[in-house]
Amino acid sequence: MSILDQQALPDAERWLPADAPEAMIGHIRALRVRGAPLIGVAAALCLARVAATGGDRHALADAARRLRAARPTAVNLMWALDRMGGALAAHDDARTLAGRLEAEAIAIFDEDVALCEAMAAYGGALIGEGEGILTHCNTGGLATAGIGTALGVLRRAWESGKRIHVWVDETRPLLQGARLTTYELGRLGIPYTLITDNMAAAVMRSGRIQRVLVGADRIAANGDFANKIGTYGIAVLAAHHAIPFHAVAPWSTVDLRTPDGAGIPIEERDPGEVRGVISSGGAHRWAPADSPVFNPAFDVTPGTLMTSLVLDTGVVSNADLAAGRLGTSSQVNPAH
Ligand code: MRU
Repeated sequence: MSILDQQALPDAERWLPADAPEAMIGHIRALRVRGAPLIGVAAALCLARVAATGGDRHALADAARRLRAARPTAVNLMWALDRMGGALAAHDDARTLAGRLEAEAIAIFDEDVALCEAMAAYGGALIGEGEGILTHCNTGGLATAGIGTALGVLRRAWESGKRIHVWVDETRPLLQGARLTTYELGRLGIPYTLITDNMAAAVMRSGRIQRVLVGADRIAANGDFANKIGTYGIAVLAAHHAIPFHAVAPWSTVDLRTPDGAGIPIEERDPGEVRGVISSGGAHRWAPADSPVFNPAFDVTPGTLMTSLVLDTGVVSNADLAAGRLGTSSQVNPAH
């Protein structure tokens, strides 16, 4: 098994081996594999690979525990590992265990592809002809097994003939917008303009942005959601400028066991990412080497700042989110 190294993009399409759990954990930590749905799929495939290469129950449990700890915020990782754990627990024939886990991992992969298409169908109906749409981080094919969440919506809207223009936040500090979203939009032929994160307010005020679409890494029961650092600021700006703001996510991102955003664990990363830039080409520092740094990888946006939440099962309105009805909404899979 190999992964496309997202740290090498857009300059090189480099595939790296990812068979051993240590290799996959390293790729996930270093964001060579990233995006909430994709890290869940990658972890599931990794466990299937451990079983296929003769790993016993002990080796599988150990690998699952270490994969789970690789990144704390995106709940899709825990969800996929729980699902693989369920398949493991329900199967007691060691001779056919590897086949069972492979089938489960492939099902998780295939479901993610279908979830992306469903989100694109619901989200696409919200997009108007000629809209300028701001997006943050990367939520496309690189972040999922399918066409993506927010970017999948934009892709299908464009392909259906809507002449949209995408405004891409560069997404400091790791530049998923500048490096990855531009790469995907360029390949798809969708017109875009790259801006630095601190330009979003001015571009909104200039009237160029009619809608904001972002992804999510974990959605709490009250609709508060964690997404790439900077999302909260964009939501506040969108509210100020009366611009519709939507998060787009599959039900595997909804975590009803976490009541609100305060309960979402937020990953903090290497200070070097803020003191300068770290890329596959090396590190370049511009701040003093001993600068105190705060580097949360995600922030939490109150659910009430969303105009609506686009799930694969339908669209949850702001009124339902504000009334705390996400958990009881028919749009949310009750099994979750
Ligand atoms: O740290 P990353 O690059 O994994 O963060 C990704 C995001 O924040 C995405 O918006 C989110 O995972 C949704 S991707 C479909």
